[in-house]
Amino acid sequence: MPRISLATRSSLVALTLAAFLGISDWLIAGQSAAPARSKADDQSTSQPKAQQDSTKTKSKAKGKAGRSSKARTRRDPPGFYMGREIAPVMSWEGVDWLFRQTRIEQEEPEAMLNALKIPRGATVADVGAGAGYHSIPLARRVGPKGTVLATDLQPEMLRMLQANARTAGVTNIKPIRCTQTDPRLPEGMVDLVLMVDVYHE
Ligand SMILES: C[S@@+](CC[C@H](N)C(=O)[O-])C[C@H]1O[C@@H](n2cnc3c(N)ncnc32)[C@H](O)[C@@H]1O
Repeated sequence: MPRISLATRSSLVALTLAAFLGISDWLIAGQSAAPARSKADDQSTSQPKAQQDSTKTKSKAKGKAGRSSKARTRRDPPGFYMGREIAPVMSWEGVDWLFRQTRIEQEEPEAMLNALKIPRGATVADVGAGAGYHSIPLARRVGPKGTVLATDLQPEMLRMLQANARTAGVTNIKPIRCTQTDPRLPEGMVDLVLMVDVYHE
């Protein structure tokens, strides 16, 4: 019979115990259960309360730096990404929320766009543009020789975006109805992609 060292024997005992407890996957992948999304994390989203509640994560499995993407993928149940629940799409019916007065002090949109140093003439994609809260100032920044490709899943959002652009006198926004799997952006044509309050969806 082959000799088994004390260390190997200890590992085998640990793995057997882990398998018994149903945590062997976790042990092998070197993962640890991180705390669920904090309250502050939830509050950072600019969605209405009702929607924030539905986006709260129910999983305690959260990423730990350095672990393999294979392990990460394996542990995400359907509807989750990197341990966080994918939020439902914010309905166009809640559009007023996107234009609330407090948004300026909460998010400082002008400072954000200034920091991006968007050149005139650029082609910028505003992915998940909603009703154009950022698309319109972006369109002004890129100027008449530039373009804003404003994509959204919801046709109602895009219709409101077009109406808002008309009111603002902006003519260089191209609305694009995309899908969840196809952003419908022209390949090799985009200088910058902006996603605000979209990634979690
Ligand atoms: C909370 S709103 C934010 C709108 C805009 N970015 C803003 O800051 O005012 C999120 C928008 O993203 C859109 N959206 C969600 N998932 C998307 C996806 N996979 N591709 C494009 N748009 C998406 C929704 O339809 C919704 O209009």
